Amino acid sequence: MFEIVTFGSSTWDIFLKVPDNQLIKSQDFLSGSAVAFNLGSKIDIEDMYFSFGGGGVNSAFTFLNQGFNVAYCGSVGKDIPGKEIINLLKEAGIGTDLIQEVDKPTNNSVIFNTSENERTVLAYRGASEMLDMEEVYWSHIDSPLWFYIAPLSGKLSKSTEEIVNFAKKNKIKVAINLGNSQISLGKEKLSAVLKKVDVLLLNLEEAALLTCINSNDEAGIMRELNNIHNGINVVTKGDQGVLVSDKDILFDAFSCKVKVVDKTGAGDAFGAGFISGLIKSNYDIESGIRRGIANATSCIKVKGSINGLLRAEEVFTDMEEKIKIDKGKII
Ligand SMILES: Nc1ncnc2c1ncn2[C@@H]1O[C@H](COP(=O)(O)OP(=O)(O)OP(=O)(O)O)[C@@H](O)[C@H]1O
Ligand SMILES: [Mg+2]
Repeated sequence: MFEIVTFGSSTWDIFLKVPDNQLIKSQDFLSGSAVAFNLGSKIDIEDMYFSFGGGGVNSAFTFLNQGFNVAYCGSVGKDIPGKEIINLLKEAGIGTDLIQEVDKPTNNSVIFNTSENERTVLAYRGASEMLDMEEVYWSHIDSPLWFYIAPLSGKLSKSTEEIVNFAKKNKIKVAINLGNSQISLGKEKLSAVLKKVDVLLLNLEEAALLTCINSNDEAGIMRELNNIHNGINVVTKGDQGVLVSDKDILFDAFSCKVKVVDKTGAGDAFGAGFISGLIKSNYDIESGIRRGIANATSCIKVKGSINGLLRAEEVFTDMEEKIKIDKGKII
């Protein structure tokens, strides 16, 4: 019997280390710098590696490592990366009965890493958005306790409500990490969804977009999230910490200092780590925050989005003990 089912993309990621001389500084770009290649040239790449990822797969690996019985519900192409993803999950012990093989290539990302530790992602969103909810064989999953919904992009964003409705009908708890496509569905559609969600996870940029409040006004964002979602609200801020509201209580946690090797999957590692900590501690928010931060920190220390995730036997790491969390009221 599965305790948790994850939803979201599965991708085949190719990481390329871009030589420094391909970086240009220019105010023509929002970030002030860009990766540039001379048209028609062949560029030598110093280092590269492949990895599997995508929000649905990344979060499933965290739950597996944390000792849960987990299944992944998503779609892959009828191609080599699709078969490899299914094999990887099966061999690891993640349930694959809900995976659909569809007539579109498996999602693929090419990720440019630079010595400045910024990454640029070229994402092909293929098979993942083809999941047909009507074809999902629900009888295979025997009422899990939680659904963890990683960002659903493109056409798949429209299935958000259907997944959440199914959960509600079957008394399954829902954690959702909304992505930009879902936030663009509009407030009306989202408010119907958010009524049925137990934990809402966002990064600061997404939280600003959802609440229509400037990202500098963190207190205003948390207040507004609390108005639109009557449950646990989590906002991650990269190296700047995490804010969590639970009714009128606000938790403000610091991130750990770490040398970032590869940031891919940080959000998924935090989100699934947070839910794992929450479930294991019988809903103690601070335990959720500590597990989320420890898992995300551990994730970004190594290459790939699933290689650095904490293992279940690392029950309460030194890192978790040291994380500073302030607690106050939402004002
Ligand atoms: N530079 C960093 N230093 C320390 N911790 C970090 C850093 N970046 C991310 N983290 C950890 O990862 C968590 C999630 O990161 P972030 O807020 O950037 O999520 P995200 O934008 O959703 O990420 P993703 O790009 O994976 O979707 C943070 O709460 C923090 O614990
Ligand atoms: Mg994210």
